[in-house]
Amino acid sequence: EMKDNTIIVVFGASGDLAKKKTLPALFGLFRQGYLPTDVQIVGYARTKMDKADFQSRAVSYIKNPDNNAAISASIQKFQDILTYVDGGYDDGSAFDALNVHLEAIEAKYASKERNRLFYFALPPNVFVPVAKNIKEHCYAETGVNRVIVEKPFGSDLDSARELLNALKQYWSEEETYRIDHYLGKEMVKNILVLRFANVAMGSMWDKTHISNVQITFKEPFGTEGRGGYFDSFGIIRDVLQNHLLQVLSILTMERPVSFSAEDIRDEKVKVLRSIPPITREDTLLGQYVGADGKPGYLEDATVPRGSVCPTFAATTLWIHNPRWEGVPFILKAGKALNEAKVEVRIQFKNTTQGIFNDIARNELIIRIQPSEAVYLKINAKTPGLQTRAMATEMDLTYNRRFADAKIPEAYEALILDALQGDHSNFVRHDELDVAWKIFTPILHWIDGQSGAPPKPVPYPYGSRGPAELNAFVERYGYQRSPSRYEWPVTNLG
Ligand code: BG6
Repeated sequence: EMKDNTIIVVFGASGDLAKKKTLPALFGLFRQGYLPTDVQIVGYARTKMDKADFQSRAVSYIKNPDNNAAISASIQKFQDILTYVDGGYDDGSAFDALNVHLEAIEAKYASKERNRLFYFALPPNVFVPVAKNIKEHCYAETGVNRVIVEKPFGSDLDSARELLNALKQYWSEEETYRIDHYLGKEMVKNILVLRFANVAMGSMWDKTHISNVQITFKEPFGTEGRGGYFDSFGIIRDVLQNHLLQVLSILTMERPVSFSAEDIRDEKVKVLRSIPPITREDTLLGQYVGADGKPGYLEDATVPRGSVCPTFAATTLWIHNPRWEGVPFILKAGKALNEAKVEVRIQFKNTTQGIFNDIARNELIIRIQPSEAVYLKINAKTPGLQTRAMATEMDLTYNRRFADAKIPEAYEALILDALQGDHSNFVRHDELDVAWKIFTPILHWIDGQSGAPPKPVPYPYGSRGPAELNAFVERYGYQRSPSRYEWPVTNLG
């Protein structure tokens, strides 16, 4: 564990990821007293700036709308632990200079222990040179060294393997923390507890009880200027292959022997290996077009003309094991939709026929964001003298039930895990490999590597997605709740 004598180095410190996610998360941990005692944070990037510039840039996304004095004071204290070094990513001598800077900080330590956590807030084309240069020029010989990296990890199975192997020359699996920030989200972490700490939940978690599952990601904005980056990836690489597949694996894995990182990840890999590659027939692709004054994807100046890149995808995965055989898992994600929402919707089977007509199916919904909640749609007797059933719910909405709880940011949770040496919520190399196996064939088809690429279905900006979506989910057995359902009076005797 990195408790004392620790430096956190943020590479790409002048970029967007660092400014919007990494540094605010470090601030959040700092303010709550979770960073190591006397920690120092060093920014590194190509941009030339002095310490003061970096200190003000680093806090530019930290919110303090009411000018709360305590927060302002924390921001000030946080800035005091920040320093900056500029340099190239390919240049060994620049990393020597960084090392001199680190050693100057460490010279004040009382013991010989030196721990260094290196955070890559970097574009993937410099992952390998930076990994190499840190190892060769900035590796602390008398302490713990760790690197945190984040997607994209390649763009298909071969390129991912190549990247992972290149990084492995310098950093061991033990030292590597691969972020999928969905694993840091409170409600994603909650899935393990809901499933394995509740006999009632655990026993309905299989093909006998469950008809179909949807894991849905909706964003109400388009690529808006980020189109250049997005276009070479598409929504499947951006969201499904990583974030939604991670949620799926936790939702479907068998009970791990323990909650140790390797036991959990062994089970995740095992269930993912039971999933065959996605087929074209099980895939619906969409691309948003302009509506109500909002620009279409192709109108984004950074998007290549005539691009057929999907900004929406629904794909159905099948798990060939005794628990899940025959249950469709529908992953769907889209940009420029009607709302912001990420949720898991587990729809149970019909009740046995004979007593109720048109009764709604049970559904368990885990709302990951916004406004975290878990609720179970159930049927209950309509209160009063009528003899009617109604659809209602058992509702665990976090901001009502846990009004005073502060839900941590995903990056806060993950950086803290990395400092503590806990790999549970990071992606293991074999997990990544099997994730790419599931998605690579469909991605190659979409990329046009096996003939003409498919044309995504247009959907209006701000809509629910392609008009075909309803029919798509119904094909896999999803049923909308009937609007009204009644019990026959005779059933109450
Ligand atoms: C990122 C994607 O990984 O996740 C983005 O690259 C997406 O396109 C983002 O917007 C969503 O994250 P969150 O935490 O806002 O749901």
